[in-house]
Amino acid sequence: MGKIFVFDTTLRDGEQTPGVNLGMNEKIEIARQLESLGVDIIEVGFPTSSKADFEACQAASKAVGKTVAALCRATLPEIQATYDAIKESKSPRIHIVLATSDLHLEHKLRMSRKDALKTAIESVAFAKTLSRDVEFSCEDASRTDPEFLQEVICQVIAAGASTVSVPDTVGFCLPDEYAAMVSGVIAHVPNIGNAILAAHCHNDLGLAVSNTIAALRAGATQFEACINGIGERAGNCALEEVVMALEIKRELGIAHNVDISKFSRVSARVASLTGVPVPLCKAIVGQNAFSHQSGIHQHGILANPLTYQIISPQSIGRQESAIVLGKLSGKHAFASKLERLGYAFEQPQIDALFADFKNVASKKREISDDDLEALITNRLIAGNEFYSLESFQIQSGNKMMSMASICLVHEGNPFTEAALGDGPIDASYNAISRIVGGEWHLASYDIKAVTEGVDALGEVVVRVRHNGQDYTGKGLSTDIIEASIHAYLNAINRVMATTSPV
Ligand code: KIV
Ligand code: ZN
Repeated sequence: MGKIFVFDTTLRDGEQTPGVNLGMNEKIEIARQLESLGVDIIEVGFPTSSKADFEACQAASKAVGKTVAALCRATLPEIQATYDAIKESKSPRIHIVLATSDLHLEHKLRMSRKDALKTAIESVAFAKTLSRDVEFSCEDASRTDPEFLQEVICQVIAAGASTVSVPDTVGFCLPDEYAAMVSGVIAHVPNIGNAILAAHCHNDLGLAVSNTIAALRAGATQFEACINGIGERAGNCALEEVVMALEIKRELGIAHNVDISKFSRVSARVASLTGVPVPLCKAIVGQNAFSHQSGIHQHGILANPLTYQIISPQSIGRQESAIVLGKLSGKHAFASKLERLGYAFEQPQIDALFADFKNVASKKREISDDDLEALITNRLIAGNEFYSLESFQIQSGNKMMSMASICLVHEGNPFTEAALGDGPIDASYNAISRIVGGEWHLASYDIKAVTEGVDALGEVVVRVRHNGQDYTGKGLSTDIIEASIHAYLNAINRVMATTSPV
């Protein structure tokens, strides 16, 4: 066994989590975090899915000095456009996907095996004229006839694919079954030595991490995963879990380039920027992953942490957040704090963040690292503001319907509406919906205090349904009504940004 490649797909497969739509600033920031984590390949998105994603992929691919992959279907125009989105990156990888299982070929693509094979070969050959680095994924590989799978893999490698992936697209395999598929490919594809063989597992049976590790033990040389295991349905393989397993089980001899001390921070940034919280009991990065409740465990931990702890919280970079900044802190201290937190912002971004910081510091005595991170997220998600909040007024009480009057600015013009509602937030959302027009349904609403205390920043995350699709929005303020309004507007602005065609 030797060194494997870690392929992160948080910005592509992870972005397929219902309700997650990452804008350009968020993609750039997550890509930078992944680069600092030391993953080998960063998949930035699916550029032909929308104009917004094309531009976000373009910007994110230029922001990092790593191999950057982007996904496309097996058609020549899509391959060309996908390459165009990432061609300015240091090392672009075109990632082509085509289903190979009979189920997908017959019912989804309406294609024969023969036509699929021809399409696969032609697509790879064309992609190869654009980039030396081409990955081919046999979608639904785990439900594909093994002989046909091996034939496709052999032919795409001959056509120039430098990486081939065998996704367990619907999380259908048990670990020994997935490992057997990988072993079968290694044993029966004569030119497999000319390509990297990748594992790509989904978590429908809760086995994505186990299946990935089984594949690596069987000889796969790359694995594809997402931070925090986010993704469609039950999610993708959790990158941090596989890496920590390899770290703890060094005797497997599977080496990687990941800097595990960045896990806590990268996990928190991904959770914050996607709006998908990390479950409390999640392995490695969950809030409770290092908490010990029972007396016996606490006693053991105090006597020797090894009794109940196989990973130290410090090793993944977990530390108590320190309170350092306050309303008297100057720009210099502020900028050096950002630097120590690992951010490399340009001066205009620092100036904008400093203004946000001063605004919050005038209402809140102490600004913690968590507050700062929340402010940064808030700035990054602001993105394209099709509608921005000018002012709001609320009348509310226990013996009356709430009434909100909201003024929004759209293309430089103010628009004001008033509406009644069942509480101040409902009234505000009704007024906003009147201004924007169309059908907006609030699918979920969550509020949390970023830190403790009565002056805490309140962070609101909403999921808004529009034309059958969910969009996440976030808002931050020391005033919870204002945070709620910002969150709703943020979701609406995302709809506007993502529905523009390529
Ligand atoms: O799971 C899968 O099959 C995929 C492909 C699109 C690569 O994510
Ligand atoms: Zn996938």
